[in-house]
Amino acid sequence: MIKSTSAKALIIRINLVFLAFFLILYVILLLCPSASDYHQQAALLVRCSFRDCHHKMENGGIKMKAVLEEPNEPKPRRELIKREKPSFLSGIGTRMRIGMVNMDDEDVSEWKAHGQVVPIPFERVSNMFEWKALFPEWIDEEEEYSGSLCPEIPMPDLDKYEKMDMIVAKLPCKAPEEGWNRDVFRLQVHLLVANMAVRRGRWEWGGRMKVVFLSQCMPMVELFRCNELVGKEGEWWYYRPEMSRLEQKVKMPIGSCNLALPLWDDKGINQVYDVSITQNPNPRKREAYATVLHSSESYVCGAIILAQPPDPNPTRPHPPPRHHFRTRPPSSLRAGWTSVSSNGSATREPRRAPTTYSKFRLWQLTDYDKIIFIDSDVVVFRNLDILFHFPQMSATGNDGSIFNSGVMVIEPSNCTFRMLMNRRKEIVSYNGGDQGFLNEVFVWWQRLPRRVNFLKNFWSNSSIEASVKNQLFGSDPPKLYSLHYLGLKPWQCYRDYDCNWDVADQRVYASDAAHERWWKVHDDMEEGLQRFCGLSEERKIELEWGRKIAREMGFQDQHWRINVTDPRKFI
Ligand SMILES: *[C@@H]1O[C@H](CO)[C@@H](O)[C@H](O)[C@H]1NC(C)=O
Ligand SMILES: *[C@@H]1O[C@H](CO)[C@@H](O)[C@H](O)[C@H]1NC(C)=O
Ligand SMILES: *[C@@H]1O[C@H](CO)[C@@H](O)[C@H](O)[C@H]1NC(C)=O
Ligand SMILES: *[C@@H]1O[C@H](CO)[C@@H](O)[C@H](O)[C@H]1NC(C)=O
Repeated sequence: MIKSTSAKALIIRINLVFLAFFLILYVILLLCPSASDYHQQAALLVRCSFRDCHHKMENGGIKMKAVLEEPNEPKPRRELIKREKPSFLSGIGTRMRIGMVNMDDEDVSEWKAHGQVVPIPFERVSNMFEWKALFPEWIDEEEEYSGSLCPEIPMPDLDKYEKMDMIVAKLPCKAPEEGWNRDVFRLQVHLLVANMAVRRGRWEWGGRMKVVFLSQCMPMVELFRCNELVGKEGEWWYYRPEMSRLEQKVKMPIGSCNLALPLWDDKGINQVYDVSITQNPNPRKREAYATVLHSSESYVCGAIILAQPPDPNPTRPHPPPRHHFRTRPPSSLRAGWTSVSSNGSATREPRRAPTTYSKFRLWQLTDYDKIIFIDSDVVVFRNLDILFHFPQMSATGNDGSIFNSGVMVIEPSNCTFRMLMNRRKEIVSYNGGDQGFLNEVFVWWQRLPRRVNFLKNFWSNSSIEASVKNQLFGSDPPKLYSLHYLGLKPWQCYRDYDCNWDVADQRVYASDAAHERWWKVHDDMEEGLQRFCGLSEERKIELEWGRKIAREMGFQDQHWRINVTDPRKFI
Protein backbone atom coordinates (compact mmCIF):
# COMPACT_ATOMS: atom_id res chain seq x y z
CA MET A 1 0.00 0.00 0.00
CA ILE A 2 2.63 2.52 1.09
CA LYS A 3 4.90 1.45 -1.68
CA SER A 4 2.23 1.99 -4.30
CA THR A 5 1.39 5.49 -2.95
CA SER A 6 5.00 6.58 -3.15
CA ALA A 7 5.20 5.26 -6.73
CA LYS A 8 2.12 7.29 -7.60
CA ALA A 9 3.62 10.37 -5.98
CA LEU A 10 6.76 9.89 -8.00
CA ILE A 11 4.79 9.75 -11.22
CA ILE A 12 2.89 12.89 -10.26
CA ARG A 13 6.13 14.62 -9.39
CA ILE A 14 7.67 13.66 -12.71
CA ASN A 15 4.58 14.92 -14.49
CA LEU A 16 4.76 18.16 -12.57
CA VAL A 17 8.38 18.63 -13.51
CA PHE A 18 7.50 18.11 -17.16
CA LEU A 19 4.52 20.43 -16.89
CA ALA A 20 6.69 23.10 -15.32
CA PHE A 21 9.28 22.67 -18.03
CA PHE A 22 6.77 23.12 -20.82
CA LEU A 23 5.15 26.04 -19.03
CA ILE A 24 8.50 27.81 -18.93
CA LEU A 25 9.02 27.00 -22.58
CA TYR A 26 5.65 28.48 -23.48
CA VAL A 27 6.33 31.61 -21.46
CA ILE A 28 9.61 32.06 -23.29
CA LEU A 29 8.00 31.55 -26.64
CA LEU A 30 5.25 34.03 -25.80
CA LEU A 31 7.64 36.66 -24.55
CA CYS A 32 9.92 36.24 -27.45
CA PRO A 33 8.73 38.54 -30.23
CA SER A 34 7.94 37.14 -33.60
CA ALA A 35 10.37 37.94 -36.37
CA SER A 36 8.25 40.63 -37.93
CA ASP A 37 7.92 42.56 -34.69
CA TYR A 38 11.18 44.28 -34.94
CA HIS A 39 13.83 45.35 -37.29
CA GLN A 40 13.14 43.58 -40.51
CA GLN A 41 16.65 43.25 -41.78
CA ALA A 42 17.69 41.29 -38.76
CA ALA A 43 14.69 39.06 -38.82
CA LEU A 44 16.22 35.97 -40.24
CA LEU A 45 18.88 36.02 -37.62
CA VAL A 46 16.34 36.07 -34.85
CA ARG A 47 16.45 32.77 -33.12
CA CYS A 48 14.87 33.06 -29.77
CA SER A 49 17.44 32.41 -27.14
CA PHE A 50 17.23 32.97 -23.42
CA ARG A 51 19.68 35.83 -23.58
CA ASP A 52 17.88 37.65 -26.38
CA CYS A 53 14.51 37.42 -24.67
CA HIS A 54 15.96 38.54 -21.40
CA HIS A 55 17.51 41.47 -23.14
CA LYS A 56 14.27 42.44 -24.74
CA MET A 57 12.48 42.49 -21.39
CA GLU A 58 15.16 44.62 -19.85
CA ASN A 59 15.75 47.27 -22.46
CA GLY A 60 12.96 47.22 -24.96
CA GLY A 61 12.94 46.67 -28.70
CA ILE A 62 15.33 49.35 -29.78
CA LYS A 63 18.22 48.07 -27.77
CA MET A 64 17.32 44.59 -28.82
CA LYS A 65 17.69 45.63 -32.41
CA ALA A 66 21.12 46.99 -31.76
CA VAL A 67 22.21 43.76 -30.19
CA LEU A 68 20.82 41.74 -33.04
CA GLU A 69 22.60 43.85 -35.56
CA GLU A 70 25.90 43.69 -33.77
CA PRO A 71 27.77 41.70 -36.39
CA ASN A 72 30.45 40.28 -34.14
CA GLU A 73 28.23 39.21 -31.29
CA PRO A 74 28.64 35.46 -30.89
CA LYS A 75 25.22 33.90 -30.92
CA PRO A 76 24.54 30.84 -28.85
CA ARG A 77 23.64 28.12 -31.29
CA ARG A 78 22.65 24.53 -31.05
CA GLU A 79 23.97 21.79 -33.24
CA LEU A 80 25.94 23.76 -35.77
CA ILE A 81 26.70 21.79 -38.88
CA LYS A 82 30.35 20.91 -38.88
CA ARG A 83 31.69 20.56 -42.37
CA GLU A 84 35.06 19.99 -43.84
CA LYS A 85 36.54 23.15 -45.18
CA PRO A 86 37.47 23.09 -48.86
CA SER A 87 41.18 22.64 -49.44
CA PHE A 88 41.39 25.66 -51.73
CA LEU A 89 40.82 27.71 -48.63
CA SER A 90 44.30 27.04 -47.31
CA GLY A 91 45.92 29.21 -49.94
CA ILE A 92 43.28 31.89 -49.82
CA GLY A 93 45.04 34.15 -47.32
CA THR A 94 44.66 35.39 -43.78
CA ARG A 95 43.55 38.58 -42.04
CA MET A 96 40.58 38.93 -44.36
CA ARG A 97 37.11 40.18 -43.62
CA ILE A 98 34.77 37.36 -44.53
CA GLY A 99 31.08 38.13 -44.96
CA MET A 100 28.83 35.17 -44.12
CA VAL A 101 25.41 34.99 -45.73
CA ASN A 102 22.83 32.42 -44.68
CA MET A 103 25.50 30.47 -42.79
CA ASP A 104 23.78 30.62 -39.39
CA ASP A 105 23.54 26.86 -39.09
CA GLU A 106 27.11 26.27 -40.11
CA ASP A 107 30.09 25.98 -37.87
CA VAL A 108 32.30 28.71 -39.25
CA SER A 109 34.88 28.66 -36.49
CA GLU A 110 37.55 27.24 -38.78
CA TRP A 111 37.14 30.18 -41.15
CA LYS A 112 38.32 32.46 -38.38
CA ALA A 113 41.86 31.33 -39.11
CA HIS A 114 41.56 33.42 -42.26
CA GLY A 115 40.41 36.58 -40.59
CA GLN A 116 37.34 38.19 -39.18
CA VAL A 117 34.01 36.46 -39.79
CA VAL A 118 31.14 38.90 -40.26
CA PRO A 119 27.60 37.50 -40.35
CA ILE A 120 25.30 39.39 -42.71
CA PRO A 121 21.76 38.94 -41.39
CA PHE A 122 18.85 39.54 -43.72
CA GLU A 123 15.10 39.16 -43.77
CA ARG A 124 14.20 36.04 -45.66
CA VAL A 125 11.55 36.41 -48.35
CA SER A 126 8.19 34.93 -47.49
CA ASN A 127 7.42 31.44 -48.73
CA MET A 128 4.33 32.95 -50.31
CA PHE A 129 6.50 35.02 -52.63
CA GLU A 130 6.15 33.26 -55.95
CA TRP A 131 8.46 33.38 -58.91
CA LYS A 132 5.70 34.62 -61.18
CA ALA A 133 5.45 37.81 -59.12
CA LEU A 134 8.98 38.61 -60.34
CA PHE A 135 8.40 37.18 -63.80
CA PRO A 136 4.82 38.05 -64.71
CA GLU A 137 3.47 37.10 -68.09
CA TRP A 138 2.51 40.64 -68.98
CA ILE A 139 3.71 44.03 -67.80
CA ASP A 140 2.48 47.46 -68.75
CA GLU A 141 5.70 48.21 -70.56
CA GLU A 142 4.31 50.94 -72.78
CA GLU A 143 2.88 52.63 -69.69
CA GLU A 144 -0.62 52.79 -71.03
CA TYR A 145 -2.01 52.19 -67.57
CA SER A 146 -0.03 52.68 -64.39
CA GLY A 147 3.33 51.30 -65.52
CA SER A 148 5.04 48.30 -64.03
CA LEU A 149 6.45 47.70 -60.59
CA CYS A 150 8.58 44.94 -59.18
CA PRO A 151 7.78 43.49 -55.79
CA GLU A 152 10.49 44.09 -53.24
CA ILE A 153 13.02 41.50 -52.23
CA PRO A 154 14.28 42.47 -48.76
CA MET A 155 17.95 43.41 -48.66
CA PRO A 156 19.95 44.41 -45.61
CA ASP A 157 21.55 47.83 -45.41
CA LEU A 158 24.84 46.96 -47.05
CA ASP A 159 26.43 50.35 -46.55
CA LYS A 160 26.87 49.81 -42.86
CA TYR A 161 29.41 47.06 -43.49
CA GLU A 162 33.07 47.61 -43.99
CA LYS A 163 34.75 46.34 -47.14
CA MET A 164 34.84 42.56 -47.41
CA ASP A 165 37.63 40.48 -48.91
CA MET A 166 35.50 37.40 -49.33
CA ILE A 167 31.85 36.45 -49.17
CA VAL A 168 30.71 32.99 -48.17
CA ALA A 169 27.08 32.00 -48.66
CA LYS A 170 24.97 28.92 -48.30
CA LEU A 171 22.50 28.70 -51.16
CA PRO A 172 19.15 27.05 -50.65
CA CYS A 173 18.66 24.15 -53.03
CA LYS A 174 15.42 22.27 -53.26
CA ALA A 175 16.52 20.13 -56.20
CA PRO A 176 15.31 17.76 -57.46
CA GLU A 177 11.92 19.08 -56.34
CA GLU A 178 10.01 20.45 -59.30
CA GLY A 179 10.53 24.17 -59.82
CA TRP A 180 13.60 24.26 -57.55
CA ASN A 181 15.34 26.57 -59.99
CA ARG A 182 12.56 29.15 -59.67
CA ASP A 183 12.85 29.53 -55.91
CA VAL A 184 12.68 33.18 -54.85
CA PHE A 185 14.65 32.54 -51.65
CA ARG A 186 17.44 31.05 -53.72
CA LEU A 187 17.45 34.13 -55.94
CA GLN A 188 17.41 36.37 -52.88
CA VAL A 189 20.63 34.86 -51.51
CA HIS A 190 22.29 35.15 -54.93
CA LEU A 191 21.25 38.78 -55.27
CA LEU A 192 22.36 39.58 -51.76
CA VAL A 193 25.79 38.11 -52.41
CA ALA A 194 26.07 39.88 -55.77
CA ASN A 195 25.04 43.22 -54.28
CA MET A 196 27.34 42.76 -51.32
CA ALA A 197 30.24 41.93 -53.63
CA VAL A 198 29.62 44.95 -55.84
CA ARG A 199 28.94 47.43 -53.06
CA ARG A 200 31.13 46.25 -50.23
CA GLY A 201 33.64 43.96 -51.90
CA ARG A 202 37.30 44.79 -51.87
CA TRP A 203 38.10 44.22 -55.49
CA GLU A 204 41.54 43.01 -56.25
CA TRP A 205 43.77 43.85 -59.15
CA GLY A 206 41.97 42.89 -62.36
CA GLY A 207 38.57 43.70 -60.86
CA ARG A 208 37.97 40.37 -59.20
CA MET A 209 36.95 39.28 -55.75
CA LYS A 210 36.41 36.04 -53.83
CA VAL A 211 33.00 34.48 -53.49
CA VAL A 212 32.46 31.03 -52.03
CA PHE A 213 29.15 29.19 -52.16
CA LEU A 214 28.00 26.15 -50.28
CA SER A 215 25.33 24.46 -52.35
CA GLN A 216 24.19 21.13 -53.67
CA CYS A 217 22.96 22.77 -56.87
CA MET A 218 25.11 24.77 -59.21
CA PRO A 219 24.95 28.50 -58.38
CA MET A 220 22.95 30.54 -60.87
CA VAL A 221 24.94 30.97 -64.08
CA GLU A 222 22.98 34.14 -64.75
CA LEU A 223 24.85 35.90 -61.94
CA PHE A 224 27.95 33.82 -61.40
CA ARG A 225 29.30 32.61 -64.70
CA CYS A 226 30.90 29.22 -64.97
CA ASN A 227 34.13 30.68 -66.35
CA GLU A 228 34.50 32.61 -63.12
CA LEU A 229 34.48 29.35 -61.16
CA VAL A 230 38.04 28.66 -60.05
CA GLY A 231 37.52 25.82 -57.61
CA LYS A 232 34.91 23.19 -56.82
CA GLU A 233 35.08 20.66 -54.03
CA GLY A 234 32.10 18.67 -52.84
CA GLU A 235 29.40 21.27 -52.23
CA TRP A 236 31.86 24.15 -52.18
CA TRP A 237 32.08 26.47 -55.18
CA TYR A 238 34.80 29.09 -55.33
CA TYR A 239 34.27 31.99 -57.73
CA ARG A 240 36.37 34.97 -58.72
CA PRO A 241 33.64 37.06 -60.36
CA GLU A 242 34.43 39.97 -62.60
CA MET A 243 33.37 43.21 -61.00
CA SER A 244 32.16 45.02 -64.12
CA ARG A 245 29.88 42.19 -65.24
CA LEU A 246 28.44 41.65 -61.82
CA GLU A 247 27.89 45.35 -61.40
CA GLN A 248 25.89 45.49 -64.58
CA LYS A 249 23.81 42.54 -63.43
CA VAL A 250 22.84 44.04 -60.09
CA LYS A 251 21.75 47.22 -61.84
CA MET A 252 19.17 45.20 -63.73
CA PRO A 253 15.62 44.82 -62.42
CA ILE A 254 15.23 41.87 -60.06
CA GLY A 255 13.01 40.11 -62.55
CA SER A 256 11.13 40.59 -65.79
CA CYS A 257 8.59 42.60 -63.79
CA ASN A 258 10.26 45.73 -65.18
CA LEU A 259 11.88 46.52 -68.50
CA ALA A 260 15.66 46.17 -68.33
CA LEU A 261 15.86 49.55 -69.98
CA PRO A 262 12.93 51.81 -70.71
CA LEU A 263 12.34 52.06 -74.39
CA TRP A 264 11.46 55.69 -74.49
CA ASP A 265 11.77 59.02 -72.82
CA ASP A 266 9.40 61.99 -72.54
CA LYS A 267 9.25 62.23 -76.29
CA GLY A 268 7.21 59.08 -76.56
CA ILE A 269 7.58 55.42 -77.25
CA ASN A 270 8.64 55.80 -80.83
CA GLN A 271 11.85 57.58 -79.94
CA VAL A 272 15.00 55.64 -80.61
CA TYR A 273 16.96 54.40 -77.65
CA ASP A 274 19.28 56.83 -75.98
CA VAL A 275 22.42 54.74 -75.81
CA SER A 276 24.23 57.14 -73.52
CA ILE A 277 22.12 56.23 -70.50
CA THR A 278 23.71 52.85 -70.28
CA GLN A 279 27.42 52.39 -70.08
CA ASN A 280 28.82 49.61 -72.16
CA PRO A 281 30.91 47.41 -69.87
CA ASN A 282 32.81 46.13 -72.84
CA PRO A 283 34.60 48.86 -74.75
CA ARG A 284 36.47 46.39 -76.97
CA LYS A 285 33.34 45.73 -78.96
CA ARG A 286 33.85 42.14 -79.92
CA GLU A 287 30.25 41.91 -80.91
CA ALA A 288 28.23 40.16 -83.60
CA TYR A 289 24.78 39.37 -84.80
CA ALA A 290 24.10 35.70 -85.36
CA THR A 291 21.37 33.53 -86.73
CA VAL A 292 21.09 29.77 -87.10
CA LEU A 293 20.19 27.95 -90.27
CA HIS A 294 19.26 24.32 -90.03
CA SER A 295 19.93 21.76 -92.70
CA SER A 296 16.85 22.57 -94.72
CA GLU A 297 17.12 25.43 -97.18
CA SER A 298 13.68 26.71 -96.31
CA TYR A 299 15.00 29.46 -94.03
CA VAL A 300 17.76 30.78 -96.29
CA CYS A 301 15.40 33.42 -97.64
CA GLY A 302 14.64 34.49 -94.07
CA ALA A 303 18.33 34.78 -93.21
CA ILE A 304 18.94 36.89 -96.29
CA ILE A 305 16.10 39.23 -95.43
CA LEU A 306 17.42 39.43 -91.88
CA ALA A 307 20.79 40.59 -93.16
CA GLN A 308 19.25 43.60 -94.88
CA PRO A 309 20.25 46.85 -93.18
CA PRO A 310 17.37 47.89 -90.97
CA ASP A 311 17.53 51.58 -91.71
CA PRO A 312 19.16 53.66 -94.42
CA ASN A 313 21.16 55.77 -91.94
CA PRO A 314 22.75 53.34 -89.51
CA THR A 315 23.85 55.02 -86.31
CA ARG A 316 27.18 53.26 -86.36
CA PRO A 317 29.67 53.81 -89.20
CA HIS A 318 30.95 50.23 -89.09
CA PRO A 319 28.16 47.73 -88.63
CA PRO A 320 29.19 44.81 -86.42
CA PRO A 321 30.21 41.60 -88.15
CA ARG A 322 27.43 39.17 -88.66
CA HIS A 323 27.65 35.52 -88.10
CA HIS A 324 25.72 33.04 -90.05
CA PHE A 325 25.69 29.70 -88.46
CA ARG A 326 24.77 26.87 -90.70
CA THR A 327 25.05 23.26 -91.61
CA ARG A 328 25.03 23.31 -95.40
CA PRO A 329 27.25 24.99 -98.00
CA PRO A 330 26.74 28.72 -98.09
CA SER A 331 24.21 30.20 -100.44
CA SER A 332 23.54 33.41 -98.56
CA LEU A 333 27.04 34.74 -98.05
CA ARG A 334 26.32 37.50 -100.50
CA ALA A 335 23.71 38.82 -98.12
CA GLY A 336 26.46 39.79 -95.71
CA TRP A 337 26.74 36.81 -93.41
CA THR A 338 29.93 35.13 -92.39
CA SER A 339 29.47 31.40 -92.23
CA VAL A 340 30.41 29.04 -89.45
CA SER A 341 29.76 25.37 -90.10
CA SER A 342 28.38 23.11 -87.51
CA ASN A 343 26.93 19.66 -87.47
CA GLY A 344 24.42 20.70 -84.88
CA SER A 345 24.61 19.33 -81.38
CA ALA A 346 24.08 15.68 -81.98
CA THR A 347 21.94 14.08 -79.33
CA ARG A 348 21.60 10.38 -78.74
CA GLU A 349 17.85 10.55 -78.58
CA PRO A 350 16.69 9.51 -82.02
CA ARG A 351 13.26 11.12 -81.77
CA ARG A 352 14.69 14.56 -81.33
CA ALA A 353 16.09 16.34 -84.34
CA PRO A 354 19.83 16.89 -83.90
CA THR A 355 19.32 20.50 -84.84
CA THR A 356 17.03 21.22 -81.89
CA TYR A 357 19.98 22.25 -79.80
CA SER A 358 22.12 23.79 -82.51
CA LYS A 359 21.50 27.20 -80.94
CA PHE A 360 23.82 26.08 -78.15
CA ARG A 361 26.67 26.40 -80.62
CA LEU A 362 26.25 30.15 -80.37
CA TRP A 363 28.06 29.93 -77.04
CA GLN A 364 31.09 28.57 -78.86
CA LEU A 365 31.57 31.78 -80.83
CA THR A 366 34.15 32.86 -78.28
CA ASP A 367 35.75 35.29 -80.72
CA TYR A 368 32.96 37.56 -79.53
CA ASP A 369 32.10 38.80 -76.08
CA LYS A 370 28.51 39.37 -76.96
CA ILE A 371 26.13 38.04 -79.57
CA ILE A 372 22.70 39.25 -80.52
CA PHE A 373 21.01 36.15 -81.73
CA ILE A 374 18.08 36.64 -84.08
CA ASP A 375 15.91 33.86 -85.48
CA SER A 376 15.86 33.75 -89.24
CA ASP A 377 12.10 34.35 -89.32
CA VAL A 378 12.56 37.80 -87.75
CA VAL A 379 12.73 40.96 -89.83
CA VAL A 380 14.60 43.87 -88.28
CA PHE A 381 13.09 47.29 -89.00
CA ARG A 382 15.16 49.46 -86.69
CA ASN A 383 18.76 49.34 -85.57
CA LEU A 384 19.20 46.90 -82.69
CA ASP A 385 22.80 47.80 -81.75
CA ILE A 386 21.52 49.10 -78.43
CA LEU A 387 21.04 45.51 -77.34
CA PHE A 388 24.80 45.04 -77.13
CA HIS A 389 24.59 47.05 -73.92
CA PHE A 390 22.51 44.37 -72.23
CA PRO A 391 23.87 41.35 -70.40
CA GLN A 392 23.09 37.71 -71.05
CA MET A 393 20.23 36.68 -70.79
CA SER A 394 18.18 39.49 -72.22
CA ALA A 395 15.12 38.67 -74.27
CA THR A 396 11.45 39.50 -74.68
CA GLY A 397 8.64 37.75 -72.86
CA ASN A 398 6.85 34.80 -74.39
CA ASP A 399 4.20 33.57 -71.99
CA GLY A 400 4.13 32.75 -68.31
CA SER A 401 7.56 33.38 -66.82
CA ILE A 402 9.48 32.39 -69.91
CA PHE A 403 11.29 34.39 -72.54
CA ASN A 404 11.12 34.03 -76.29
CA SER A 405 14.36 32.67 -77.73
CA GLY A 406 13.83 34.43 -81.07
CA VAL A 407 15.96 37.44 -80.10
CA MET A 408 18.48 36.94 -77.31
CA VAL A 409 21.55 38.70 -76.01
CA ILE A 410 24.07 36.07 -75.07
CA GLU A 411 27.69 35.97 -73.95
CA PRO A 412 29.64 33.17 -75.62
CA SER A 413 31.70 31.00 -73.33
CA ASN A 414 33.06 27.50 -73.82
CA CYS A 415 32.10 26.41 -70.33
CA THR A 416 28.54 27.66 -70.73
CA PHE A 417 28.35 25.62 -73.90
CA ARG A 418 29.64 22.53 -72.09
CA MET A 419 27.21 23.14 -69.25
CA LEU A 420 24.31 23.34 -71.72
CA MET A 421 25.40 20.15 -73.42
CA ASN A 422 25.89 18.30 -70.15
CA ARG A 423 22.43 19.18 -68.96
CA ARG A 424 20.63 17.87 -72.04
CA LYS A 425 19.73 14.62 -70.33
CA GLU A 426 18.63 16.15 -67.06
CA ILE A 427 16.55 19.08 -68.31
CA VAL A 428 13.12 18.50 -69.75
CA SER A 429 12.19 21.18 -72.26
CA TYR A 430 8.49 21.98 -72.08
CA ASN A 431 8.23 22.14 -75.85
CA GLY A 432 11.10 19.85 -76.79
CA GLY A 433 12.89 22.80 -78.37
CA ASP A 434 15.67 25.15 -77.47
CA GLN A 435 13.32 27.75 -75.99
CA GLY A 436 12.07 25.40 -73.30
CA PHE A 437 15.57 24.23 -72.56
CA LEU A 438 17.17 27.64 -72.34
CA ASN A 439 14.36 28.80 -70.08
CA GLU A 440 15.24 26.09 -67.58
CA VAL A 441 18.89 27.14 -67.54
CA PHE A 442 18.46 30.91 -67.62
CA VAL A 443 15.51 31.38 -65.30
CA TRP A 444 16.70 34.87 -64.30
CA TRP A 445 16.40 36.92 -67.45
CA GLN A 446 16.03 40.59 -68.31
CA ARG A 447 12.98 41.77 -70.16
CA LEU A 448 13.53 43.68 -73.37
CA PRO A 449 10.65 45.72 -74.74
CA ARG A 450 8.35 43.53 -76.79
CA ARG A 451 8.85 45.88 -79.73
CA VAL A 452 12.35 44.41 -79.99
CA ASN A 453 10.93 41.01 -80.93
CA PHE A 454 7.26 41.57 -81.60
CA LEU A 455 5.47 38.29 -82.03
CA LYS A 456 3.15 38.19 -84.98
CA ASN A 457 0.12 36.60 -83.46
CA PHE A 458 -3.32 37.48 -82.21
CA TRP A 459 -4.25 36.00 -78.87
CA SER A 460 -7.63 37.42 -78.21
CA ASN A 461 -9.52 37.22 -81.53
CA SER A 462 -10.74 40.74 -80.84
CA SER A 463 -10.97 43.46 -83.43
CA ILE A 464 -9.20 45.90 -81.09
CA GLU A 465 -6.14 43.69 -80.84
CA ALA A 466 -6.16 43.13 -84.58
CA SER A 467 -6.36 46.82 -85.44
CA VAL A 468 -3.70 47.90 -82.90
CA LYS A 469 -1.28 45.21 -84.00
CA ASN A 470 -1.84 45.55 -87.71
CA GLN A 471 -1.22 49.26 -87.38
CA LEU A 472 2.12 48.47 -85.67
CA PHE A 473 3.08 45.82 -88.21
CA GLY A 474 2.46 48.06 -91.18
CA SER A 475 3.82 51.32 -89.74
CA ASP A 476 6.30 53.21 -91.87
CA PRO A 477 8.56 54.65 -90.56
CA PRO A 478 8.57 51.54 -88.43
CA LYS A 479 7.43 51.63 -84.84
CA LEU A 480 8.70 48.14 -84.17
CA TYR A 481 12.34 47.21 -83.86
CA SER A 482 11.63 43.82 -85.32
CA LEU A 483 8.78 41.54 -86.15
CA HIS A 484 8.88 37.83 -85.52
CA TYR A 485 6.96 36.03 -88.26
CA LEU A 486 5.36 33.17 -86.38
CA GLY A 487 3.32 30.60 -88.26
CA LEU A 488 3.84 30.03 -91.97
CA LYS A 489 6.60 32.30 -93.26
CA PRO A 490 5.86 35.05 -95.79
CA TRP A 491 8.23 33.56 -98.35
CA GLN A 492 6.33 30.30 -98.11
CA CYS A 493 3.13 32.08 -99.17
CA TYR A 494 2.09 33.80 -102.36
CA ARG A 495 2.78 37.46 -102.07
CA ASP A 496 -0.90 38.25 -102.63
CA TYR A 497 -1.91 37.50 -99.05
CA ASP A 498 -0.79 35.85 -95.82
CA CYS A 499 -1.39 32.12 -96.33
CA ASN A 500 -1.84 31.62 -92.59
CA TRP A 501 -5.46 32.61 -93.31
CA ASP A 502 -6.00 29.37 -95.17
CA VAL A 503 -4.85 26.97 -92.45
CA ALA A 504 -7.22 26.49 -89.51
CA ASP A 505 -4.61 26.19 -86.77
CA GLN A 506 -2.39 28.96 -88.18
CA ARG A 507 -5.04 31.63 -88.48
CA VAL A 508 -3.96 33.26 -85.19
CA TYR A 509 -0.77 34.26 -87.04
CA ALA A 510 -2.47 35.77 -90.08
CA SER A 511 -1.81 39.44 -90.78
CA ASP A 512 -1.93 41.02 -94.21
CA ALA A 513 -0.26 44.18 -92.91
CA ALA A 514 2.74 42.18 -91.67
CA HIS A 515 2.80 40.18 -94.88
CA GLU A 516 2.87 43.31 -97.00
CA ARG A 517 5.63 44.80 -94.84
CA TRP A 518 7.78 41.74 -95.40
CA TRP A 519 7.41 41.90 -99.15
CA LYS A 520 8.41 45.52 -99.08
CA VAL A 521 11.76 44.56 -97.50
CA HIS A 522 12.03 41.79 -100.06
CA ASP A 523 11.46 44.11 -102.99
CA ASP A 524 14.07 46.56 -101.72
CA MET A 525 16.63 43.79 -101.83
CA GLU A 526 18.89 43.30 -104.85
CA GLU A 527 17.41 40.94 -107.42
CA GLY A 528 20.24 38.43 -107.22
CA LEU A 529 19.25 37.70 -103.65
CA GLN A 530 15.52 37.60 -104.32
CA ARG A 531 15.88 34.34 -106.18
CA PHE A 532 16.53 32.54 -102.88
CA CYS A 533 12.93 33.28 -101.97
CA GLY A 534 11.31 31.08 -104.60
CA LEU A 535 8.58 28.51 -104.13
CA SER A 536 9.24 24.81 -104.58
CA GLU A 537 6.78 22.76 -106.65
CA GLU A 538 5.90 20.91 -103.47
CA ARG A 539 5.13 24.14 -101.66
CA LYS A 540 2.89 25.35 -104.51
CA ILE A 541 0.83 22.17 -104.23
CA GLU A 542 0.50 22.68 -100.48
CA LEU A 543 -0.62 26.27 -101.01
CA GLU A 544 -3.29 25.26 -103.53
CA TRP A 545 -4.43 22.52 -101.18
CA GLY A 546 -4.73 25.05 -98.36
CA ARG A 547 -6.83 27.36 -100.52
CA LYS A 548 -9.10 24.49 -101.49
CA ILE A 549 -9.69 23.49 -97.87
CA ALA A 550 -10.26 27.11 -96.88
CA ARG A 551 -12.86 27.44 -99.66
CA GLU A 552 -14.60 24.27 -98.54
CA MET A 553 -14.59 25.42 -94.92
CA GLY A 554 -15.91 28.77 -96.13
CA PHE A 555 -13.56 30.87 -93.98
CA GLN A 556 -15.24 34.22 -93.45
CA ASP A 557 -12.18 36.32 -94.30
CA GLN A 558 -12.44 34.98 -97.86
CA HIS A 559 -8.75 35.24 -98.60
CA TRP A 560 -9.12 32.04 -100.59
CA ARG A 561 -11.15 34.05 -103.10
CA ILE A 562 -8.18 36.29 -103.97
CA ASN A 563 -6.80 35.58 -107.42
CA VAL A 564 -3.12 34.80 -107.13
CA THR A 565 -0.95 37.06 -109.26
CA ASP A 566 2.39 36.24 -107.66
CA PRO A 567 4.79 35.57 -110.56
CA ARG A 568 6.51 32.90 -108.45
CA LYS A 569 3.42 30.76 -108.95
CA PHE A 570 4.06 30.55 -112.65
CA ILE A 571 7.83 29.95 -112.67
C1 LIG B 1 29.87 17.03 -90.18
O1 LIG B 1 29.62 15.64 -90.31
C2 LIG B 1 30.20 15.04 -91.46
C3 LIG B 1 29.84 13.57 -91.50
O2 LIG B 1 28.74 13.31 -90.72
C4 LIG B 1 31.72 15.21 -91.44
O3 LIG B 1 32.29 14.66 -92.63
C5 LIG B 1 32.05 16.70 -91.33
O4 LIG B 1 33.44 16.86 -91.22
C6 LIG B 1 31.38 17.32 -90.14
N1 LIG B 1 31.62 18.74 -90.15
C7 LIG B 1 31.97 19.39 -89.06
C8 LIG B 1 32.22 20.84 -89.25
O5 LIG B 1 32.08 18.87 -87.98
C1 LIG C 1 36.76 27.69 -76.91
O1 LIG C 1 36.99 26.43 -77.48
C2 LIG C 1 37.52 26.47 -78.80
C3 LIG C 1 37.69 25.05 -79.28
O2 LIG C 1 36.57 24.30 -79.07
C4 LIG C 1 38.85 27.19 -78.81
O3 LIG C 1 39.33 27.31 -80.14
C5 LIG C 1 38.66 28.58 -78.22
O4 LIG C 1 39.92 29.23 -78.14
C6 LIG C 1 38.05 28.50 -76.84
N1 LIG C 1 37.80 29.82 -76.38
C7 LIG C 1 38.27 30.29 -75.24
C8 LIG C 1 37.93 31.69 -74.91
O5 LIG C 1 38.92 29.60 -74.48
C1 LIG D 1 -13.25 34.82 -83.55
O1 LIG D 1 -14.28 35.76 -83.67
C2 LIG D 1 -15.19 35.48 -84.73
C3 LIG D 1 -16.21 36.61 -84.79
O2 LIG D 1 -15.75 37.75 -84.22
C4 LIG D 1 -15.86 34.13 -84.49
O3 LIG D 1 -16.74 33.84 -85.57
C5 LIG D 1 -14.80 33.06 -84.39
O4 LIG D 1 -15.39 31.83 -84.08
C6 LIG D 1 -13.79 33.42 -83.32
N1 LIG D 1 -12.74 32.45 -83.33
C7 LIG D 1 -12.29 31.87 -82.23
C8 LIG D 1 -11.19 30.90 -82.41
O5 LIG D 1 -12.74 32.14 -81.13
C1 LIG E 1 -10.49 36.14 -110.40
O1 LIG E 1 -10.44 35.61 -111.71
C2 LIG E 1 -11.68 35.12 -112.21
C3 LIG E 1 -11.47 34.50 -113.57
O2 LIG E 1 -10.18 34.63 -114.01
C4 LIG E 1 -12.66 36.27 -112.28
O3 LIG E 1 -13.89 35.80 -112.73
C5 LIG E 1 -12.81 36.88 -110.91
O4 LIG E 1 -13.65 38.00 -110.96
C6 LIG E 1 -11.49 37.30 -110.36
N1 LIG E 1 -11.69 37.70 -108.99
C7 LIG E 1 -11.23 38.81 -108.49
C8 LIG E 1 -11.52 39.08 -107.04
O5 LIG E 1 -10.60 39.59 -109.14
